[in-house]
Amino acid sequence: MTVDGGTPIYLDHNATTPLAPEALDAMLPFLRQDFGNPSSSHAYGRRARDAVDQARQQVAGLLGCQAADLVFTGSGTEANNLAIAGALKGRTDGRQGLVNSVLEHPAVQEPMLDAAGFQLTRLPVDSAGVVEETAWRALVGPHTALVSVMHANNEMGAIQPVRRLADHAHSVGALMHTDAAQSAGKVPVQVAELGVDLLTLVAHKFCGPKGVGALFIRPGTPIHPLVLGAGHERGLRAGTENVCGIVGMGVACELARVRFSEDTARLRSLRATLLQRLQARIPGLLVNGPPVEVLCNTLNVSFPGVSGAAVLRAAPQVAASTGSACHGEEESTVLLAMGLPRDRARGAVRLSLGRVTTEEDVERAADHLAQAFQQVHARG
Ligand SMILES: Cc1ncc(COP(=O)(O)O)c(C=O)c1O
Repeated sequence: MTVDGGTPIYLDHNATTPLAPEALDAMLPFLRQDFGNPSSSHAYGRRARDAVDQARQQVAGLLGCQAADLVFTGSGTEANNLAIAGALKGRTDGRQGLVNSVLEHPAVQEPMLDAAGFQLTRLPVDSAGVVEETAWRALVGPHTALVSVMHANNEMGAIQPVRRLADHAHSVGALMHTDAAQSAGKVPVQVAELGVDLLTLVAHKFCGPKGVGALFIRPGTPIHPLVLGAGHERGLRAGTENVCGIVGMGVACELARVRFSEDTARLRSLRATLLQRLQARIPGLLVNGPPVEVLCNTLNVSFPGVSGAAVLRAAPQVAASTGSACHGEEESTVLLAMGLPRDRARGAVRLSLGRVTTEEDVERAADHLAQAFQQVHARG
C-alpha cells in the first residue's frame, strides 16, 4: 500500500513478519524443480525428505531438543490444537481440570473450551500482565490435567514465568504447554530451561513463511493425532509435508538462533528510541505491560483521552494495530483483564518492531503518531 507516494512504516511484526530473504532463497527450489513428495523413495522424494530432515534439525537447534521431538503442523493454531486436544484425547486418569491464563490467544482458549468433560479455569494477571503465582498455586492441583500459559504475550509483550509454572504443574502431575508464538528470536526458547512438555512455534512470527508451525513434544508425553490419515510426522499429523514451508521455517529458526544477540540488542535500542520520542511529544502517554520482563520488540502505549484506533486512522504512514489482529476496534480484552481502565484500553496502540525496522523508521513513526494524536485530540 502506498501513502502519499511512500510505503507505510511496518510496525506490526507481532501480527506477522516479512519473509527473511535467506528463507525465501532456500524455499524457491522446492516450489520449482525440487517438487518431490518426501514419502517417495526415488531421487525426487529423497531430496525433499533430506530437506525436511535438515529443517527439523534447524528447529531442534533453536529449541535445544531432538529433531525427533518435533511435529510440523499447518499453522500455530494447529500446533496449539494438537497440544491441547491431542493431549486430552483418550485420557482415562479422571483429571478434569484445565488451566490457562486470561491472556491466551483464541488458538489456545477455544480448544480448551471445546474439550468435552473438562473444566477450564483461567489464571488472572496483575496490572503489568503477568500471571500471579498465588493464583496458580491455588488453582493448579491434583485435579489438573493440563496447564497452558503463553510464553510471551502478543499484545503488550509480557514474558510469563513459564519455568516456575511448569515446575508447579509437574509437582501436581499436570502437563505443561506453552504457546511460544511470539518468543522465537526475541527470548530464549530452550525447552529444557522452560521445563515444558509441549511448546508451539509459529514460523511467520519470526521471518519464516505463513502456514507452517511446529509442536515440540517431550518424549513420553501422551498425545494422539487430530488429523488422521497416513503415517506422516510419526503418525501425529497426517498429510504430505509442506516441504517449502518447512524449509523456510528451518532457515528462520537458524537465523533466529545465530542472530539472537544482535537482533535483540538492536530491537531493545529501537524500542527505547521509539518510546523516548513518543513520550517527548505526548504528555500523559502510558506504557502497558511490564517494565522489564517484556518482549524487546513490543511497545504497547495508551494515548491519553483519545482512541488508539482513531490515532492509527489519522496516521496512515504507520502500519500498526490496536492489539491482536483478532479483536478489531473493540478495547483489548487483554488490557481489560490486566485491570486497566476502559479509557486507557481504548487509547492503546501496539507497536511491534522487527529485523527490518530501522532507526529512521521509529523516529518517523513517532513523529507521525504524535502529529496524528494532536489532530485527533484537537477534534475532541
Ligand atoms: C500468541 C499466538 N498464538 C498463536 C497464533 C496463531 O498462529 P497462526 O497464525 O500460525 O495460526 C498467533 C498468531 O496470531 C499468536 O500471536
